[in-house]
Amino acid sequence: MKTYISLFLLLIVIGASAQNTAVLNTDLGSTIIDKHIYGHFSEHLGRCIYGGFYVGESNTKIPNTQGVRLDVVDALKKLKVPNLRWPGGCFADTYHWKDGVGPKAKRPTIVNTWWGGVTEDNSFGTHDFLNMCELIGAEPYLSGNVGSGTVQELSEWVQYVNFDGVSPMSNWRKENGREKPWNVKFWGIGNEAWGCGGNMVAEYYANIYRQYATFMSNSEKAKLFRIASGASSDDYHWTEVMMRDIPHNMLEGIALHHYSVIDWGKKGSAADFSEQQYFQTMQRALLMDELITKHATIMDKYDPKKKVALVVDEWGGWYDVEPGTNPGFLFQQNTIRDAILAGATLNIFHKHSDRVRMANLAQTVNVLQAVVLTDEEKMILTPTYHVMEMYNVHQDATYLPLSISGGDYTFGSEKLPAISASASKNKAGLVHVSLVNIDPKNVKEISIELRGGKYASVSGRILTSAKLQDHNTFEKPDAVKPVAFKQASLSSNVLKVTLPAHSVVVLELK
Ligand code: AHR
Repeated sequence: MKTYISLFLLLIVIGASAQNTAVLNTDLGSTIIDKHIYGHFSEHLGRCIYGGFYVGESNTKIPNTQGVRLDVVDALKKLKVPNLRWPGGCFADTYHWKDGVGPKAKRPTIVNTWWGGVTEDNSFGTHDFLNMCELIGAEPYLSGNVGSGTVQELSEWVQYVNFDGVSPMSNWRKENGREKPWNVKFWGIGNEAWGCGGNMVAEYYANIYRQYATFMSNSEKAKLFRIASGASSDDYHWTEVMMRDIPHNMLEGIALHHYSVIDWGKKGSAADFSEQQYFQTMQRALLMDELITKHATIMDKYDPKKKVALVVDEWGGWYDVEPGTNPGFLFQQNTIRDAILAGATLNIFHKHSDRVRMANLAQTVNVLQAVVLTDEEKMILTPTYHVMEMYNVHQDATYLPLSISGGDYTFGSEKLPAISASASKNKAGLVHVSLVNIDPKNVKEISIELRGGKYASVSGRILTSAKLQDHNTFEKPDAVKPVAFKQASLSSNVLKVTLPAHSVVVLELK
């Protein structure tokens, strides 16, 4: 009996600490990880805009500039947010941009029918958003209203924000206080046209898209990047029809939306979840690799030179709202599970950087997998924020293929790959390696042989915590934060890493 127990324990130790090996050719990268895959999304939904980004100029003690919270702007600047999508989401197809310009007191109200039925006073509009993007240093990505708008309305929005000469719309912009155009490049033509954007079939929407795109004019300083409303998860027919029916000279990107939700009827709590729920969330998150591969295969058939980008402009974890909060506001906590989800998803985007050239995490503040949560004057950064910040070293760097067979993370009779990894080399020659140990129970030993260059030092940071469910609160804002990582060593061009259970690590090699 004693011998059996010893043998069993020995097997566990070997299983937990088995060497996972890989080779990294640091001179063999060919695609760039577009910084725009690090984009974010801000919808008129719950407390994302109102209370999150924007508190108005009067009656608030919260430091702001023109009503925009300075603490949030500061946090997003540090994140190096490359682009910000607005005003939706489902809200975009109910939004009439002319309601949101001109004197605020005179702006009409509308009802936000998708999100809580609240009254939208349009106090945060086009100028507010585009000026805020300038403060953050992010490029704006405007979602046009196709579902309940008109071709003229969208074409005039383009003229209002982008035209430098004399025209009814540019004159109106000037009257409203903005002399120079903002030169907005990224435009979504509708959102989820198969659902909240109008319940259209793909063939019908493709025609509508062609019509809208025809009347959106380029301007001298803004060559438009037009993005078709895309598929939901595995709706491959949608992508097929977009690629087949829309001439590629009027299409720069096709969207894809995929949320890591366990079950739409039973999403589960964001912070109080079981290991089974963690496993299921990660199954849905890792499915992103297969989804992108299959959508990209269809795109390759019509566009072998990969001119049209796949734009994953909504992704992230989606759970039950926090108890006692408005179900229409989608306010959820954010834990180590979300950090693992974010790291693994970004690694998937890196791997597909030849086709995925833009993405937007849903959503920036107080909604779904937010990077920032606010409560009146208080603001906290979530574990997802920290991962996005640690990973921003990959923005615009050359992708270096890296595949580590890290064994499996097993739960019951099911399994997932335990390690998610990716690497890149920046313009200064620094190599960054991102490692995620999805396994919540076992430490992983990793050994990577570096070829194509000599590397003498390694440094890095880790994000982890005692439990998967750990998160930051307004009382304990720094419960989960990155710290220096000491369990990596480099000798004879071999990188050795001891990766704790449920952790995200980003290393820099010189
Ligand atoms: O991000 C929340 C919602 O999810 C968006 O409004 C919509 O596009 C998607 O269904």
